[in-house]
Amino acid sequence: MFITFEGPDGSGKSTQILLLAEHLRAAGREVLTVREPGGTAAGERIRALLLGEGGAVEINPRADALLFNASRSQLVAEVIRPALARGTTVIADRFADSTLAYQGYGSGLPLDELRAVISFATAGLTPDLTVLLDLPAEEGLARKSGDGRTRFEEGFDAAFHTRVAEGFRALAAAEPARWRTFDARRPKGELADEIASAVGLATLRQ
Ligand code: TYD
Repeated sequence: MFITFEGPDGSGKSTQILLLAEHLRAAGREVLTVREPGGTAAGERIRALLLGEGGAVEINPRADALLFNASRSQLVAEVIRPALARGTTVIADRFADSTLAYQGYGSGLPLDELRAVISFATAGLTPDLTVLLDLPAEEGLARKSGDGRTRFEEGFDAAFHTRVAEGFRALAAAEPARWRTFDARRPKGELADEIASAVGLATLRQ
């Protein structure tokens, strides 16, 4: 099963992914967690460039879309598909929907063109279940400390992040069979329990 977590910056995805992975492992499942961009040797280098580690460089939205998808392509081929083929449950911290939300809704690139790039990069791999941790964009940004901030949190304005958050909601509404939306402001234990039961139900459907 391939599960992805999406949401605005600071929505608490990484904490919830750890908790879900622990829960599934306790139930006897093999679980692999990955993060985007990165997760492979090539992907980590692309990540450093994209997030401006070691000094931000100018990257236009189309180049962003291609770089995120280059990292994604390597991750899918090298890590995700082989793990799924072994029967491992894969949980990804961001996947293709982040490109649609950030480069599409945020930066204004056409969604259909981005979908073509994504489909090429992933060779058609789509998640079985996508968890949206939803919260107002400004609350997410406020949760992030100054030195942990990336090029996206520093260099893009509040209106951009609001469009991203709205984009995620639109994507979830358009494909309700794949997405489950949760209020990221809820206490983290309660949220983890709700996510675990949604994943349990989705597993039964498989
Ligand atoms: P990261 O530090 O991983 O942020 P987070 O912890 O919030 O996931 O940085 C990833 C940043 O890149 C984040 O701001 C979202 C952005 N992004 C895109 O713009 N497009 C994409 O396709 C992906 C995967 C991420």
